[in-house]
Amino acid sequence: MIEFTVNGRSVSVDVTIVTRLSNVLRDHLGLTGTKVGCDAGDCGACTVLMNNSQVCSCLVPMAQAKDADIRTVEGLSDNGAMNALQQSFHAHGAVQCGICTPGMLMAATDLLQRIPRPDEQQIKDALSGVLCRCTGYRKIIKAVAAANEFSSEADLPQPRPPTTAVGERVPRVDGKAKVLGSDNFGADEAPEDALWLRVVRSPHDRAKFTIGNLETLQERWPGLVRTLTANDIPGSNLYGASPARRDQEVLAESETNFRGQAVAALIGDRDTVEKIRDDELGIDWQPLDPVIGVDAALADDAHIVHKDWPNNVFAEGILDKGDVAPAFNKAAAVAEGEWETSFVEHAYIEPEAGYAQRVLAPDGSKDSMIVYGCTQAPYLDQGEVSHVLGLPPDHVRIIPSACGGGFGGKIDVSFQPILAVAAWLTKRPVRCVYTRSESMASTPKRHPAKIYAKLGLRADGDILAFKFDGNYNTGAASSSGKAVSGRVPCHSPGPYRVENAQTRARAIYTNETPAGAFRGFGLPQAALSTEMLLDQCCDELGLDCFEVRYRNALRKGDTTTFGHRLDHSVGIAECLDALRPHWRKLRQRAEEFNAAGNGKFRRGAGVACMWYGIGNTGTSNESTMKLTLTRDGKITLFNGAVDIGQGSTTVILQICADAVGLPMEAFGLVLGDTGLTADAGKTSASRQTFVSGRAAQMAGEKFRGQILRQLNAGPGSVLSIDGNVVEAWDSDGVKTLDLN
Ligand code: FES
Repeated sequence: MIEFTVNGRSVSVDVTIVTRLSNVLRDHLGLTGTKVGCDAGDCGACTVLMNNSQVCSCLVPMAQAKDADIRTVEGLSDNGAMNALQQSFHAHGAVQCGICTPGMLMAATDLLQRIPRPDEQQIKDALSGVLCRCTGYRKIIKAVAAANEFSSEADLPQPRPPTTAVGERVPRVDGKAKVLGSDNFGADEAPEDALWLRVVRSPHDRAKFTIGNLETLQERWPGLVRTLTANDIPGSNLYGASPARRDQEVLAESETNFRGQAVAALIGDRDTVEKIRDDELGIDWQPLDPVIGVDAALADDAHIVHKDWPNNVFAEGILDKGDVAPAFNKAAAVAEGEWETSFVEHAYIEPEAGYAQRVLAPDGSKDSMIVYGCTQAPYLDQGEVSHVLGLPPDHVRIIPSACGGGFGGKIDVSFQPILAVAAWLTKRPVRCVYTRSESMASTPKRHPAKIYAKLGLRADGDILAFKFDGNYNTGAASSSGKAVSGRVPCHSPGPYRVENAQTRARAIYTNETPAGAFRGFGLPQAALSTEMLLDQCCDELGLDCFEVRYRNALRKGDTTTFGHRLDHSVGIAECLDALRPHWRKLRQRAEEFNAAGNGKFRRGAGVACMWYGIGNTGTSNESTMKLTLTRDGKITLFNGAVDIGQGSTTVILQICADAVGLPMEAFGLVLGDTGLTADAGKTSASRQTFVSGRAAQMAGEKFRGQILRQLNAGPGSVLSIDGNVVEAWDSDGVKTLDLN
């Protein structure tokens, strides 16, 4: 037994001296406010105080924690009331997805008890061991600096008058739970008796394989309840990022397509499945030549990664406007070049995690599956899990946990199908938490791109011609390759008026990690080439590269290169107007520095523009929001849009509250559960505020209209609800509706 103190309470745990403190806090003491992101001391999400100093609890063996005084995020609050630091985080919007927040708070607590009024550098130094992938740190630094200004929750921004929620600065509706550490992420919740699942993955880019006798493995390891191979999948072994293109195997059957692909799964107690070595499965690997890189994939003799795509080109998008060849001839300056970009990992702090549970309906009518965990796309998960299990979609319920960052990487299905298969076959709840390395190895990344581009300018700076050819490496799965190859041709010319354009983008299969959605769907790679060519042409003509961008920037009323008329608003010129004084200052400073001849260093100042489309690519953008009013006067917004840290839960409620004409506090929320909420689509491509926000507005207006009709009140009436009585005030006075 190892004894120590946690949040002022003496505890003793029966663990080995090498057990990580983070595991003891979370698994033995239920203090899941301490998060684990990397389990290697890099991300700092697990930061706690040990004897008043911050430590990464994943790096503290229990031998060191013996007799120590440990403080976790749960120890900061007083009976659920936020302390000053937590209030400051909440009020400053220093919390987005919230997975780093407990670690940040503990690091800041360490600082503030040593230095009550720290300066910015001291704050940066103190927080430097905790990574935040969402906020950009500025609000966190401000929150720590202002912590002393908060003494009670009354110091938080106060509710605004009814009907004006949009445009007001309001705390996140889920912010308090995040600063208290009580918001549950994928790894924070599972039934007590849940088994653990560990996936066994291919160590080869491409290989044929056979698996040995797994029965002997179970004989050697009594804690191993079951193994899974492709033969065990009850429905289809294929899933994908869309029902239209399922090209990923839940478990590879006889040949793997990329390093990190799942080939088997072990289900049992946690200790057992973590201890079994992969080589104990007796897998006979026969490595094969892989297709690495888009050039290899396009070669005449290339291995075909997926048989339905005989040239390895999964998708292609092209755009032609005008006639580029004569336009380049007329240009005063022409620049061209080639670029190659690499895979980029989303690096959300929360690795993929969740549990699955088979449940029998109370009437025994249907066996169904619950899958809980982090996701950006619950309805996609529902469709893919039901396909893999061979069940109708309404027999699968997806309950999203809080999502500790996604950035596109959690749109694709990952752990959900294999967990569901495990729970289905064992009839026991089963959970899994991806390790950081398996998260990186197996989930989609930003597409590496190989780009050729050419741009021509008139002498006056107008963009006369643009040519672009991008080969995007979609790896071993199509994932969002169709969206990327559809968007890039449209947006690669940049947010500019371009007279002549010829663009193409292709998504190409290789034997590499799948590439998928990641902020901008291929556009950041394209912008790199377009913006560099613009600079080169400006240099050649002696033009100011900032003003050339401003001159060409699209404005209201313009038509884009791909024929979209911008009737409502275009902000790029205004952005550049706002940026201009800063740009001039930076440019001047750099010139002065260089003129002073400061040894071998030179300074530069650059400007670049980028755009991309909001919403699904080339398909409908649907979202459904629902409102109910019960007889006891409770209004509930059923919102199926998953908030991955961007704040959609708050924003959608603001929009809905204004549409109804009641304060935000009047609404209860049911969030993102396919069993309770309607499909709001994926949380991707910045679409939830725009699309689900609009759905919430329409639902709110319809709901308000129904109430006003019942009351026979005018459209401008001011609504209020007092208990089970709804009141509407208009110029004729008050009208009431008793809900009972
Ligand atoms: Fe810091 Fe999301 S709020 S990682």
